[in-house]
Amino acid sequence: MSEHVFKDFYRNTVTYSTEKDPFSNDPKHVWVVCRYRESWLLTRHPSRGIEFPGGKVEKGESADEAAVREVHEETGGHVSTLYYVGQYMVEGRAETVIKNVYFAEVDRLEKKDSYFETEGPLLLERLPHQPKKKKNYSFIMKDDVLPLSMKEIEARFLNT
Ligand code: GTP
Repeated sequence: MSEHVFKDFYRNTVTYSTEKDPFSNDPKHVWVVCRYRESWLLTRHPSRGIEFPGGKVEKGESADEAAVREVHEETGGHVSTLYYVGQYMVEGRAETVIKNVYFAEVDRLEKKDSYFETEGPLLLERLPHQPKKKKNYSFIMKDDVLPLSMKEIEARFLNT
């Protein structure tokens, strides 16, 4: 059992695990690390900044379905393969958020007129070493969830 506990950008307590559904088998949030060709596929949120796509699971939808939908809504990307990576729990002042982390391979990037609540896709060959120091990056990219997820993804899915 490998659980990691740390503080996020807002000093909320986060618990992260790569076990299957450690905190909930019905999480209401998803976050998707996306790969398109040789690049990482992210989105630009108008207020939060650059982040991997994600959002809330809708009524009648599974978390896996929400992951595929959010990637398409926020980037135009079509997910060809979706892998579960882990799950984390954020204990905020008001509420607790439980989020599934996925790795998605995207095989097609559709150009769209609207990307819902975001400004659309952003392709990066490399992720910044210290997103915490970058003003244009979302708080979601600024805690240990990103390096822990990338470590898992590199070990399991990338041939580096
Ligand atoms: P809306 O309901 O869409 O307006 O969003 P919200 O920000 O009010 O609620 P949400 O349920 O998405 O998140 C509630 C709080 O949980 C946020 O304000 C964050 O503090 C925290 N949170 C949500 N997602 C994450 C995440 O991926 N990482 C971290 N560290 N905190 C998160």
